[in-house]
Amino acid sequence: MRSWSPILRAVLALAAAWFLLAAVARAGLLPASFRGTTAVLIMGILASAVGRGLGLAPRWSPGLLFFPLLLDYILRHPLPTWVWPVALVALLLVYGGGVLTRVPLYNSNHAAWEALLTLCPTAMLRFADLGAGLGGPLAFLARQRPDGFFLGVEASPLTCLIAWIRTLPVRGNCKIHLGSLWNLELAGFDVVYAFLSPAPMPELWEKVRAEMRPGTLLVSNTFEVPGVEPDERIPLPGRRDACLLIYRIRASEPGTSPA
Ligand SMILES: C[S@@+](CC[C@H](N)C(=O)[O-])C[C@H]1O[C@@H](n2cnc3c(N)ncnc32)[C@H](O)[C@@H]1O
Repeated sequence: MRSWSPILRAVLALAAAWFLLAAVARAGLLPASFRGTTAVLIMGILASAVGRGLGLAPRWSPGLLFFPLLLDYILRHPLPTWVWPVALVALLLVYGGGVLTRVPLYNSNHAAWEALLTLCPTAMLRFADLGAGLGGPLAFLARQRPDGFFLGVEASPLTCLIAWIRTLPVRGNCKIHLGSLWNLELAGFDVVYAFLSPAPMPELWEKVRAEMRPGTLLVSNTFEVPGVEPDERIPLPGRRDACLLIYRIRASEPGTSPA
C-alpha cells in the first residue's frame, strides 16, 4: 500500500479511522463524554496515525487531523449555496489542466530541486519546466543561478497565477506562461524538466527528440520514457520509486535537430 498514491492512502487512512471508531462505538466501548466533536477529533488523530503508518509524509498529518472536524462542521452548519459552485470553479482552476491532460498537480520536493541544480551546466543555462505547477523548482533554481534563464509553462490558470506570484522575486531571470507544454518550442533549452505522469511520456519523448539539441538533457521526475533506458537515475527521498531520470539527447537520435 505504501506504493499507492498519497491521496489514495489519505482516503484509506480516513476510512480506517472511521471504521475503527464506529466499531468501538458499536461495541459500547466509547465513553459518552467522547461523543460528538471529541469523537471527530479522535477520528482525526487516528487518521493521522494510520496515514503515517501508511508512509504518508508528516505534512499530510494536519490535513488528516482537521478534515473530519471540517466535514463535521459543514454537516452541522450548512454553507450558503454559492460556496459550492465557487469551490468547484477554484478546484477546476487548480486541477482543470490535470483533469484534461491526465497529469495532476503534485510538487517536486526540495531534494529534487537540489539534484536539478547539480544537473544544470555551469555556463549558459536555459531551463524549462514543462507543467510548472506552483513554481517551486523554478523559484529555487532561478535564485541559485542568477546567470541562467528559467521558463515554466503551466496549463491550470490558478496554479499558474500562484507560480507567477511565487517567482516574482526572481522575475529578472524567470518567466511563467499560462499554456500547454505541447506549444513550447524546446530547441533553445539546455535542460528540460518534466514531472508529469506515465500518460504523456511517449509523446513527450517524440517532441524532445524532434526539438532538443544533442547534448542537452530531458530530466523526468519518476516517470520513465517507455522503452528508453535513461543515462542516469538519481534516487530521491519519499516514495519508493521517486527518482530523477536523466535522458541525454544524442546526435544520432533520429529526428534530433542539429546543434
Ligand atoms: C506533477 S505537477 C509538477 C509541478 C512542478 N513541475 C514541480 O515539479 O513541482 C504537473 C503540472 O503539470 C501541469 N500540466 C499538465 N499537463 C500540462 C500541459 N499539457 N501543459 C502545461 N502544463 C500541464 C499540471 O497542471 C500540473 O500543475
